[in-house]
Amino acid sequence: MGIEELSVRNSRVVSDRWADSVAVRSRAPERHITVHKRLILAFSTSILMLLVVTAIAVTLAVNFEKCGENVATPPTGSNRTRNRNDDPRGGDVQPWRRSRLPTALWPRHYDLQLSIYMNNFTFSGELNIELECVNATKFIVLHADRLRVDKVAVYSNAKKPGAMRIHRHFSYPQKQVYIIALHREMKPLRTYKIQLSFQAQIQNRLLGFFRTSYMLHGERRYAAVTQFSPTHARKAFPCFDEPVYKATFRVTLTHDAFYRSVSNMPVELSSLDRDGWLTNRFFRTPRMSTYYVSWAVCDFSYRETMTHDGVMSGFGDYALHISKSLLNFYQDYFRVTYPLPKLDLLAVPKLQYAAMENWGLSVFVEQKILLDPEIVSSSYKMDLTMVVVHEICHQWLGDLVTPVWWDEVWIKEGFAHYFEFVASDFLFPGWKMKQRFLTDVLHEVLLLDGIAASYPVSQELLRVADIHRVFDWISYKKNYLVRHQYGNTARDDLWNSFSQAVRREGRDINIKEVMDGWTLQMGYPVVTISRNQSLENSISFSQEHFLYDMDAKIHQFSDKSLQWQIPLNLAVGNISHISSVSLIWISNKTETQRVGRIGEETWLLGNINQTGYFRVNYDLHNWRLLIQQLMINPTIISVENRAGLLDDVFSLARAGYLPQNLPMQIICYLSKEDDFLPWHAASRALYQLDKLLDRTEDYSLFSNYVLQQVELKYHKLDWPRVKAGDSFKQATYHADELQREVIILACSFGNKHCHRQAMSLVSEWLSTDKNSNLSPTLCRIPPSLRDVVYCTGVSLMDEDVWEFMWKKFQSSSAISEKKDLLEALTCSDNTFLLHRLLNTSLNSELLPDQELIDVLIHVARNPHALFSRALEVVQANVKWQQIYQESFFQWLSKSSCV
Ligand SMILES: *[C@@H]1O[C@H](CO)[C@@H](O)[C@H](O)[C@H]1NC(C)=O
Ligand SMILES: *[C@@H]1O[C@H](CO)[C@@H](O)[C@H](O)[C@H]1NC(C)=O
Ligand SMILES: *[C@@H]1O[C@H](CO)[C@@H](O)[C@H](O)[C@H]1NC(C)=O
Ligand SMILES: *[C@@H]1O[C@H](CO)[C@@H](O)[C@H](O)[C@H]1NC(C)=O
Ligand SMILES: *[C@@H]1O[C@H](CO)[C@@H](O)[C@H](O)[C@H]1NC(C)=O
Ligand SMILES: *[C@@H]1O[C@H](CO)[C@@H](O)[C@H](O)[C@H]1NC(C)=O
Ligand SMILES: *[C@@H]1O[C@H](CO)[C@@H](O)[C@H](O)[C@H]1NC(C)=O
Ligand SMILES: *[C@@H]1O[C@H](CO)[C@@H](O)[C@H](O)[C@H]1NC(C)=O
Repeated sequence: MGIEELSVRNSRVVSDRWADSVAVRSRAPERHITVHKRLILAFSTSILMLLVVTAIAVTLAVNFEKCGENVATPPTGSNRTRNRNDDPRGGDVQPWRRSRLPTALWPRHYDLQLSIYMNNFTFSGELNIELECVNATKFIVLHADRLRVDKVAVYSNAKKPGAMRIHRHFSYPQKQVYIIALHREMKPLRTYKIQLSFQAQIQNRLLGFFRTSYMLHGERRYAAVTQFSPTHARKAFPCFDEPVYKATFRVTLTHDAFYRSVSNMPVELSSLDRDGWLTNRFFRTPRMSTYYVSWAVCDFSYRETMTHDGVMSGFGDYALHISKSLLNFYQDYFRVTYPLPKLDLLAVPKLQYAAMENWGLSVFVEQKILLDPEIVSSSYKMDLTMVVVHEICHQWLGDLVTPVWWDEVWIKEGFAHYFEFVASDFLFPGWKMKQRFLTDVLHEVLLLDGIAASYPVSQELLRVADIHRVFDWISYKKNYLVRHQYGNTARDDLWNSFSQAVRREGRDINIKEVMDGWTLQMGYPVVTISRNQSLENSISFSQEHFLYDMDAKIHQFSDKSLQWQIPLNLAVGNISHISSVSLIWISNKTETQRVGRIGEETWLLGNINQTGYFRVNYDLHNWRLLIQQLMINPTIISVENRAGLLDDVFSLARAGYLPQNLPMQIICYLSKEDDFLPWHAASRALYQLDKLLDRTEDYSLFSNYVLQQVELKYHKLDWPRVKAGDSFKQATYHADELQREVIILACSFGNKHCHRQAMSLVSEWLSTDKNSNLSPTLCRIPPSLRDVVYCTGVSLMDEDVWEFMWKKFQSSSAISEKKDLLEALTCSDNTFLLHRLLNTSLNSELLPDQELIDVLIHVARNPHALFSRALEVVQANVKWQQIYQESFFQWLSKSSCV
């Protein structure tokens, strides 16, 4: 099956093809695995679609603790008895009490056979684990959570094979482990086999091996899926459930033939017995950790029906299409072939996370993988693309190369996050994703990381991405991946690989030392660049920890002087010219460097193209020159830097490093700005300021000032023009996004024309809907502006509009449309309606969980709702208001752009 062939098939056909190939392969002996791998280019990418009409499964209270008690025969005997059996040399007396597994035993292979009963949601398993003993031990400690272990046997593979006598076996629920204590020690360098049989329930909790349900033709259908990351494989089978214990797995599933099953690997052998039970044995996996082992049992028989009547056909085509390109992209990029013979993307109604990157069987919430190409907006499409890109990246970084322990998880998450932008850029160059990285990720993380109690995960995510910016890491990625294939990685390994690669290129920089400064310290620096008045043609640099809250800086951090090694790109320029860039390493708190001649009208610009993870500040004279430059000839400065300057100036003012009028002066240039990115940066910053000011007396001073800067552009770009009967012609992506950004700004800050336009579109929809039953595709609201129009309509028009949207939300089947409508419902400032929405979402089956979360997030964003924001943000805002608000409004009342 060639890739070219694949691209034209819709998901149904591909799945069928895949089923065919299973049949063909069914009697394939083991040696075919290699043959199969060689044919690796022919990925059988299939999307197994599970369709949903809204559903929240009835919660079956499954009391596992009870089952646990029955089996658990915890060591209730006296302490003395136990000690007699323990290591007389006083080693590890009770190794199961530790939080990590003892390292004496290493699993090599798991042979797992499960019988799955969908009728009563239980399963039973037979498990064989091959172990290697590293250090002598009497105890086998492995993870098991809420499993009822029935039988246990241990065999030695030594010269005299045979069963080993078991002293006792018991579970220790506090650490979610199961312990087998032997009479005699296991010996180093020997291999052993454990046999276990166990039973458990298929839970309704979105973790471990769980069930999920959906309605089809008025009938509730069930599917059972796994979510093992980070520590839930132990809920499905006893195992060494830490990422470092990589082993091979052979999974065999037996279930009612009404269902189909999939796992990480394709089916090797399939047999149907007379009672209607189907057994699928899957190929043995490469070495892998337990957290991305996966299987699913679901019923696809309805799929054809749905496709036949055309309702849902093709919702998965888009993801299928990009997955094919992405597999090729990553193979070329990492120069490591995709190691498995197939990749399934499974869409399920509900999941703990948006998606999970199981090797060969990635599972997605349907919202993140199915889309209706007819009515989807570009931002929804982008969102979905990034999720697919992220998960497929994990097939390499995460699954092939795996972190040793969860505290290093940011290595895989960081890279995958970074690749969301790199690979999306490859798929859709027109989206300019690498630029969007700045406003969507960098500016967001700089914001979070500038708060005194910053969020460590986010900051680290970004810093991995930063590696690319400091050094060109393309040359080491290959080396790195090849070395760590099928193994685990840790931060120091990563840096060492990078250092070696850099050295080969003739640069001697200890990356570990540099990067530790960024990954192990919290926060980030602001570099201040200023002319040295006393020394001609010299520039002084200083660095300090950037914090929004100056008080925290003085009180919490006075004793810690954080310092970074900062690679600063610096350019000098004048009205018509920008110099080439020089790199300066700043490692001291302050330093002074001589540069070429700097005239009075020459400005300095640091952090070229915002490639570094820090902020840059300048002396006021330099800021004035930069603003002047933007007003007269903005494109001398790159679009990345224009966005960066906006983000820096708003943040520096907010934190008190700069006067408050500077950001207001800089936005005067926006009427000349034709690129999306700086507008995006500015609007993000303006909405934050808006939140601070929106209930103050003088708010209109601020909103009018902002509107003045926006209106010129708004009237020039106008709304997308649609003639009746014409489908929407999308302009280039960025022109589209710019128009959308400006329209949102205009509507949010109260432009009357914008409000009228949105309301008339909504009224028109209401009236055409009453007359005929036109689908929203045929109404004249452009897809990319639906969310703005709906939201503006709900917030400005009467209750009928809310009711109308509520009705539409319930009847719509397109997931993106549902999302827009649901968000719009939260735009109302009618507290009664908001309560009603919350109450309905909490009490009814109308909304699946994933949507419920969305409702809560959006209601929380609406200042009229009763939710308060994080305490710290509130406190920081209060401080800002106390110190700056008055002078801010004073300045605004007197100023305007010229
Ligand atoms: C075992 O010893 C510990 C501490 O030495 C004690 O707290 C515990 O009660 C003892 N358990 C039994 C069953 O004697
Ligand atoms: C569940 O159903 C299967 C097959 O119908 C049966 O063998 C098994 O005993 C049942 N398990 C429980 C816990 O009822
Ligand atoms: C094995 O035991 C030796 C000596 O007791 C110890 O130094 C070593 O760390 C142990 N190795 C493992 C993997 O536990
Ligand atoms: C200017 O440079 C001199 C010499 O390096 C240094 O002592 C002084 O602090 C610098 N002045 C400023 C304002 O940075
Ligand atoms: C700007 O700088 C360039 C190069 O340094 C120089 O050739 C040019 O004359 C300068 N222009 C002005 C207006 O100062
Ligand atoms: C940084 O400080 C060290 C020690 O104070 C000094 O030796 C070094 O020259 C300084 N580097 C720069 C670039 O000023
Ligand atoms: C900065 O980005 C622009 C594109 O916006 C590019 O032309 C330029 O080469 C970049 N500069 C550096 C130093 O990377
Ligand atoms: C919330 O919904 C429930 C059930 O639909 C209803 O009984 C209850 O009165 C509602 N509460 C409010 C405050 O609307």
